[in-house]
Amino acid sequence: MPQLVHKPKRKALLIAAGALGLVAFGALSGAIILLSGAYSTAATTQHFKVTHQVLDAGLRLSVRASARHVRAPDLDRPGMLARGVACFRTHCVQCHGAPGVAPIPAARGMLPIASNLTQTAREWPPEWLYYVTRKGVRMTGMPAWEMRIDEDDLWATVSFLTRLPVLTREQYRRLATRAEDLTCRTPTGVPFEGSREYAKVIFRQYACHSCHRIEGVVGPRAHIGPSLLEWSRRKFVAGVLPNDERNLIRFIRDPERVKPGSLMPRLEVTEAHAREMARYLLDEGAR
Ligand code: HEC
Ligand code: HEC
Repeated sequence: MPQLVHKPKRKALLIAAGALGLVAFGALSGAIILLSGAYSTAATTQHFKVTHQVLDAGLRLSVRASARHVRAPDLDRPGMLARGVACFRTHCVQCHGAPGVAPIPAARGMLPIASNLTQTAREWPPEWLYYVTRKGVRMTGMPAWEMRIDEDDLWATVSFLTRLPVLTREQYRRLATRAEDLTCRTPTGVPFEGSREYAKVIFRQYACHSCHRIEGVVGPRAHIGPSLLEWSRRKFVAGVLPNDERNLIRFIRDPERVKPGSLMPRLEVTEAHAREMARYLLDEGAR
């Protein structure tokens, strides 16, 4: 009975065709909704409950997988908590709030809203907290901090987060007051020197692409600042300094000092980050 042999094959083919049809239908309906303008981008709308749950589960699974090789150091070393508080009050409380402290108005208008980290710290291991703080969460408004907080202080921040669940309002206030004179440290080096891929991350993490067009960096079609495409052919930096690595670094780190009245703002670029960007720009076009 040859048909019997063929039957399961036909069934599998039908299932595959059905699944493909469903995916195509989903993609098509998505495209129609998007193109018709019916999809609301307003931050005042809310997700369906199931959308929220799916996204939340997706975040956890992704973070769990990405953080599997991360190992937390001893989080109780002397001085760690104080530095963690310093970082938290400089960089995090604005969006996430703290015991007895509300997020700032801008953060209250965000979708998704930044979660209260007291609950996250109860539910997540330190390695996950570290990973998300370091890398950020795309399409949520959670920034990546690896360019702004050095490795030790990232862990110090996590050390503080793990204490959040037991802190009273008064204890937080006292810790925050004591940390007022401490600064959260920025990284001094780069993990991948000379890497063009990492240089692109640096450009994006300093918002350079919000004003400039840069080779290999995807972003808005920005022309607030001059295009930096084919940079190696330029004779001058901002029309005032000969175009070489040293001058480029100087301008990127402090435009106003090199060219008073320059519209390019100072972006607190570290020496190491400026060097990677300068080398990337000067190298490009040469290839
Ligand atoms: C500009 C606002 C903003 C700032 C500043 C900010 N966050 Fe976030 N954060 C968010 C948003 C939005 C999310 C995503 C929604 C969510 O899951 O909480 C998020 C998510 C997180 C999460 C995952 C929480 C969870 O339960 O899913 C952690 C952990 C976190 N942030 C830590 C930090 C730390 C530590 C800092 C400071 C170094 C910080 N955030 C600064 C907006 C911010
Ligand atoms: C808010 C917008 C803005 C941001 C963000 C910005 N720039 Fe600029 N940039 C400008 C403007 C405007 C100029 C022209 C300034 C001038 O000539 O005085 C400029 C000039 C420059 C120049 C010289 C261009 C030339 O034609 O000689 C370089 C190089 C440069 N920026 C690199 C960077 C890098 C790297 C970053 C990120 C660290 C950055 N910029 C971030 C606005 C910006």
